[in-house]
Amino acid sequence: GKRMLTDTFGRMHTYLRISLTERCNLRCLYCMPEEGVDLSPGAYLLSTAEVLRVARLFAAGGVNKVRLTGGEPTLRKDLVELTGQLSQLQGVQAVGITSNGLTLGRKLAALKEAGMSLLNISLDTLQPDRFVAMTRRQGHDRVLATIHQAVELGYDPVKVNAVVMRGVNEDEVPAFVELTRNSPINIRFIEYMPFDGNVWSEPKMAPYKDLLAAVQRDFGQLERCADPRGEVAKNFRVPGFRGTVSFITSMTKTFCSDCNRLRVMADGNLKVCLFGANEVSLRDAMREGATDEDLRAIVSAAVDRKRAAHAGMFELASAKNRAMVKIGG
Ligand code: GTP
Ligand code: 5AD
Ligand code: SF4
Repeated sequence: GKRMLTDTFGRMHTYLRISLTERCNLRCLYCMPEEGVDLSPGAYLLSTAEVLRVARLFAAGGVNKVRLTGGEPTLRKDLVELTGQLSQLQGVQAVGITSNGLTLGRKLAALKEAGMSLLNISLDTLQPDRFVAMTRRQGHDRVLATIHQAVELGYDPVKVNAVVMRGVNEDEVPAFVELTRNSPINIRFIEYMPFDGNVWSEPKMAPYKDLLAAVQRDFGQLERCADPRGEVAKNFRVPGFRGTVSFITSMTKTFCSDCNRLRVMADGNLKVCLFGANEVSLRDAMREGATDEDLRAIVSAAVDRKRAAHAGMFELASAKNRAMVKIGG
């Protein structure tokens, strides 16, 4: 029952993030090194059936929201099929995706049809040249077009994720806020977090307080909106604007005490916290013939090892973890 996903601090885990692939068609500075990362051999990745088995198990344990991540989840061939199956699972109320928007456009209508209801698209700059500098790839116009296509298809809100890096794209905060004037866009400014190979340093992280001040300099006092339980953003609105402006304050104001998330990565490892190296392989268990009862015991033990909070900013910077591209955020 629900006990499997409740940890020793009483946190119930109702939100499962499933990374579908380690591959990505961008090379964002803050996510992975220039040369990319070593990919797991294909046979080590969960199959469609294994993803569904894991999701069914978690849904039976109380998960009501599933978000598909990567790498870039649209690179996974069975994405639409998986979306359809996941959204049909007993207990699952919402299926979402976090995509870089490069190749999402082609699949967007089919995904919506299949039951995809929550759409987060990553875009860190509105300047084409800067896009190339930040992602080390082309495609800025396609991402922008996909954001508009998503609005047109009726996604409300369309969340746009912008990781803010000092001295890189910080000056674009007001331009991003402009996107919310007439569109149901939720622009979310994200504090830069440290992961293996992403050359994080504290001075490159733009703190939430500074970003909020920058927005208020141009747009005046913001209206504070409700923060739905289990979401990581602090939400605001420019009075009169159609969309909203949010901040994800992972570094300066942590939200571990309300954490409701678990992650299953493309290689089948369960990760109970975004940070740290605490992982257990569900793939190996499944391939060794584990029953659902066995799997529940493994998951329950891992959830019970979840700590109250992740390490502070300075320990995090040197803590062992994966590259972000292999976690999926
Ligand atoms: P929804 O709440 O469903 O909209 O999704 P989300 O905001 O959690 O997902 P998304 O993939 O869009 O991630 C946005 C940012 O939040 C990324 O930088 C993630 O790394 C970060 N994030 C997601 N989950 C966690 C978490 O558990 N802890 C921390 N510190 N950051 C997280
Ligand atoms: N810090 C904060 N957010 C990050 N993301 C990727 N790497 C980092 C990082 N180092 C974001 C992506 C995407 C989401 C899954 O996580 O931009 O929007
Ligand atoms: Fe790819 Fe997302 Fe990482 Fe950028 S942040 S390289 S789009 S996985």
